[in-house]
Amino acid sequence: MPQLNPKTHFMKFFIDTANLDQVREAQDLGVLDGVTTNPSLMAKEGITGRENILKHYVTICNLVNGDVSAEVIATDFDGMIEEGEELANLHEQIVVKLPMIKDGVKAAKYFNDKGVKINLTLVFSVGQALLAAKVGATYVSPFIGRLDDVSTDGLGLIAEIRLIYDTYGFETQILAASIRHTMHIIDCAKLGADVMTGPLSSIEGLFKHPLTDIGLANFLADYKKGN
Ligand code: G3P
Repeated sequence: MPQLNPKTHFMKFFIDTANLDQVREAQDLGVLDGVTTNPSLMAKEGITGRENILKHYVTICNLVNGDVSAEVIATDFDGMIEEGEELANLHEQIVVKLPMIKDGVKAAKYFNDKGVKINLTLVFSVGQALLAAKVGATYVSPFIGRLDDVSTDGLGLIAEIRLIYDTYGFETQILAASIRHTMHIIDCAKLGADVMTGPLSSIEGLFKHPLTDIGLANFLADYKKGN
């Protein structure tokens, strides 16, 4: 099991969406630490065109108190730098999200040297996670659900990354992404993931229990009997 310092370590909850109602709802729950988005999630909400996309990021930043990952579209180094700088200048909460490809790693190093927060995304192996830590990424995003989809152990990847990062004291935060359901959150917490990002439904599943509902109904029924 991971040996984390409980005084400095707690699991952050991010919501993986560009839907403003869901961001608000998660924020209102009082457990939200940030938001992650990607081009597919923006498209799902019908947010298109550079200007609208940038505006949407600022709106999300103003709704939450934590980091908001905004992904570049460019896949070449110069393009990523240009886009990343534009994104980083939008709001102090923006974390520039870069793909785990050669130019993405180079761009991550560039931004890290400048003090800009980075999230290296589309991570599917320990080797990729090792590179993310070497260039000082703030976050590394292993996609556990998508690994599970292809009969590969997503949670196993989280455990391996935790082991390597702890062995060397890498400070890159493991952001378990592509969370699909509540048990993924619980398993990631057991494995010591620093952050999880998932849909609102996965977070809401944490407070659901039939015995809570039955117990509450009984308490209220008993109260009514005497009042
Ligand atoms: O934002 C990246 C990741 O969380 C995507 O999840 O469900 O599309 O595999 P999913």
